Amino acid sequence: MKVIAINGSARKDGNTFCLIQEVFKPLEDAGIETEQLQLFDKKIAPCKACFTCGERKNCSYKNDDFAEIFDKVKSADGIILGSPVYFANVSAKMQAFLERAAVVCDMNAGLLTHKAGAAVAAARRGGALNAIDTMTHFFLNHEMFVVGSTYWNMAYGQLPNDVMNDSESLANMKNLGENMAYLLKRL
Ligand SMILES: Cc1cc2nc3c(=O)[nH]c(=O)nc-3n(C[C@H](O)[C@H](O)[C@H](O)COP(=O)(O)O)c2cc1C
Repeated sequence: MKVIAINGSARKDGNTFCLIQEVFKPLEDAGIETEQLQLFDKKIAPCKACFTCGERKNCSYKNDDFAEIFDKVKSADGIILGSPVYFANVSAKMQAFLERAAVVCDMNAGLLTHKAGAAVAAARRGGALNAIDTMTHFFLNHEMFVVGSTYWNMAYGQLPNDVMNDSESLANMKNLGENMAYLLKRL
């Protein structure tokens, strides 16, 4: 079993990275393989609305990193989407990823059906719920099971590693990982 996490931060190993690693710990304890893909150095263009993805179960645009990442997403049992909050929602990289992944899934019904999904967000102050909602809608629109935790899946922090001081959020991330492991073992 494998869980893939997509990290939409422009910053390598920042707060979103930390949160995803915290969710991974209980998954790995349960024997589930994990991989975090950070988009900071990846090229992901917005959707070009060509609608040719129905022919190949992936995006037809080959001049960037999306298709390779989406192949990994398709092969995973669980998907974690993580983003810093940028202007009160997900980062532009995460938005571009969601646009393209959503259209590929819309044109190829069933690609992600019955996989487990969880969304996490890092924010300095405001907008984290919007970001979590945006990412969660992706799961809900594609027949996935959304994993919950004990409170909002967000953490407060500005500089890299700041979220490691947000103990409530860390407990929440641990619980999220435990719940995803529970669900995956039963699917
Ligand atoms: C372009 C940009 C826009 C941001 N907009 C917001 C915002 O609207 N609300 C907020 O709380 N934090 C905002 N932040 C702060 C980040 O969400 C915060 O620093 C977060 O911890 C970064 O996570 P990362 O280290 O994973 O990139 C913004 C940061 C950047 C670079």
